[in-house]
Formats: sequence, C-alpha cells, structure tokens
Amino acid sequence: MVIKQLELNGFRNYGYAKTGFSPGINVITGKNAQGKTNLLEAMYYLSGAKSFRTRKDRELINFLSDEASVEADIWGNGRDYRLNIRLSRTSRKKITINGVRKKTASELSGKLCTVLFCPGDLDMIKGAASERRRFMDLAIAQLRPKYALLLTEYGRIYEHKTRILRDYKEKPDLLEVLDDFNIKLAKTGTELIFYRAAWCKKLSGFASQMHREISGGSENLSVRYKTVSTLDNPEESKPSEIFKALTEHQRQYRKVELDSGLCLSGAHKDELEMTINDAAVRVFASQGQIRTCALSLKLAEREISCNDMGEYPVLLLDDVLSELDLDRQDFMLNKITGGQVFITCCEGENIEKKTGGTIIRVHAGSIKQ
Ligand SMILES: Nc1ncnc2c1ncn2[C@@H]1O[C@H](COP(=O)(O)OP(=O)(O)OP(=O)(O)O)[C@@H](O)[C@H]1O
Ligand SMILES: [Mg+2]
Repeated sequence: MVIKQLELNGFRNYGYAKTGFSPGINVITGKNAQGKTNLLEAMYYLSGAKSFRTRKDRELINFLSDEASVEADIWGNGRDYRLNIRLSRTSRKKITINGVRKKTASELSGKLCTVLFCPGDLDMIKGAASERRRFMDLAIAQLRPKYALLLTEYGRIYEHKTRILRDYKEKPDLLEVLDDFNIKLAKTGTELIFYRAAWCKKLSGFASQMHREISGGSENLSVRYKTVSTLDNPEESKPSEIFKALTEHQRQYRKVELDSGLCLSGAHKDELEMTINDAAVRVFASQGQIRTCALSLKLAEREISCNDMGEYPVLLLDDVLSELDLDRQDFMLNKITGGQVFITCCEGENIEKKTGGTIIRVHAGSIKQ
C-alpha cells in the first residue's frame, strides 16, 4: 500500500498543507515541535479514524479552527482510493471513501493498513506482560476480525468469573455457576491461544531475522510465546490439547483462586518471552537493544501482514534513530525494502548524507520537499 498524496486542513499545528510522497523511504525532518509526529498521526488516523496519541478527536483540530480534515490518495488492493475524514468541534466526524459517506470507522478497515512504531512502544519490551499482549492482540485483530470478537467475549467471561470469585463468600450460591464459567473461559481461551500461537510462530521467525540484520549479525533475538504452564508447546498443539491443558491448569489453581478471589488461570496471563544472545531482554537489554528489539517486532509484524494481505502495510516510524549507532541507523534509513516507509528524525542529524530516501522538511506546520 502506498500513500501517494496527503492533504491536511487545520489538523494539529497544520493550516493548509499538501504533499506527495515516494513509494519507498520518506524521511520527515525538522526541528522539535514543528509537526513531524503530527504528520505521521494524520496518516495513521486515516487507517482507522483513531489517533495513537489521544482518544479525543477535538485535540486534533487546530487551536485556531473549528474544523479539520485529512485526505489522502492511496494505492492499495490493486486500485486507487481517496480517503477523507472531516472533524468538527460541533458535530461527529465524517468519513468518506471515494467521495461516498461511510457510517462507521470500521468501513476504513483494510483500505490503508499501517504498522506504527512510536517511542511509547518501548514499554512493550521493558514493561508488563500486558503491553506485549496488547501488541499481539492489536496485530492479530487487524488481520482477523473474528479475533477481536473473541477477545471481547473472553473479557466478558473473565469479568464475570472474577465477580464470582470476589463475591462468593457473601453469596455462596454463585459457586454453582463457577464451573460453567471455567468451561466458557477455557473454550474461548483455546481459540485465542490457537490464533496467538500461529501468529507468534511467524513473528518469532521474522523478528529474529530482522534483529540479526539490524544488528549486523551480532545479536540473536529469540521470541517465545508462553501460555499456561500445563501447555509446553502451544505452537504445535491442537485445539483439543489446548482445551485440556487450560482445564487442567484451572483445576490446579482452583484453591488459590478461591482463596485470593482472583482469576489466575487462563490466556489473560499469556506472555511473549524475549532473549538477546540468551539474556532476558526485560532484565539485561541496553537502550539500543531495547529499541532494536521493538523495531524488529514491528518489522516482523509488517512481514506477517504482507504475507497475509499480499502487499506491505505502510510503515510509520516515529523517532526511531535516537540511541541507535550509525550502522543501525543506516539500516533503518536505507535498508527497509519492499514497501512505503515514513521515518521522522530531528534536523541536524546530517540526514541528507545518511539516506537515499526522499526528504520531507517540516517547519511550523508547513511541509517542504
Ligand atoms: N490542536 C493543535 N493545534 C495547534 N497546535 C497543536 C495542536 N496539537 C498539537 N499542536 C502543536 O504541534 C506542535 C508539533 O507537534 P509534533 O509532536 O508534531 O512535533 P515534532 O515535530 O514531532 O517534534 P519532536 O521532534 O519534539 O518530536 C507542538 O508544539 C504542539 O503544541
Ligand atoms: Mg515528534
């Protein structure tokens, strides 16, 4: 997929701005606070009518304006599209595709697919397991709408079971339905684990390959999907084996769950374990290694999407170069092939000499090529 042209009107710090892009690598450069991230945000916004920085659409409208619009000409799925989203302080957002008004944001799905890296993604490496599950869940849900429904369903059953465990001491009758909820949780959990294991198998192969390339062959990243302790090898397991392992795990944890009032057994505890040269990334990785690892995961996500959809999603990389040595920077600026890439970086990094990509300069909410 390619963003051929983007037109902004009153979006963030932009007045009116219109620019075309290269189908390969585009480097967006400028001083701090000029609108580099805002430009990536506008592109990301067109992929699902959601920002990665805020839930409040009104924050996207220029302080001096009551309306904003983002429009782009896209090449994807073998044809041209024009996507447009208009925002207003007083009414709901309006989405149009090729000039035809769409009722919901879900109709944008599959029109412009993006993979985004932003500095907050570093938490996915160092932070809690929930961050890594979120990465996995968002990526799989983009490819498989059914997975998103399963996640919602799982969340609902989990909440219900948690309420039973919390309240059964006051209302002992609740325990009568605990087994039913365990079965429901294990059934939905089986489906989630089955999807996750298949996706993680691909992720792990691509991520190690990417990490090896970015680090010039000096580092070996291993990514391993871990679920309940009763299931050793989720990637090679059939659904019936996953279900059996989940119910066995529930049995082992029954007493602890009843004593603690917490739901401790199931797919909501899944983890992606990562090591670089056999040392746990969460504990031992350096700043540059953390960043490289996060980038390898995102590049791997992009490869999986390409295999699945038959074309590369647009890669949006915000502030990736800091903390990377010159060789790793060179990889990011020149070696990502096969799809459209946008990379923001601060002016003064001698960028013209470092990249063969198209340079886009951003200054005070205006764009120059
Ligand atoms: N709704 C808005 N209206 C006007 N200006 C805004 C709005 N939202 C954000 N801005 C301003 O846009 C400016 C640029 O933001 P942006 O995050 O794109 O900078 P940047 O070029 O990525 O900088 P950095 O190099 O520091 O990351 C900020 O100064 C911010 O205050
Ligand atoms: Mg920025």
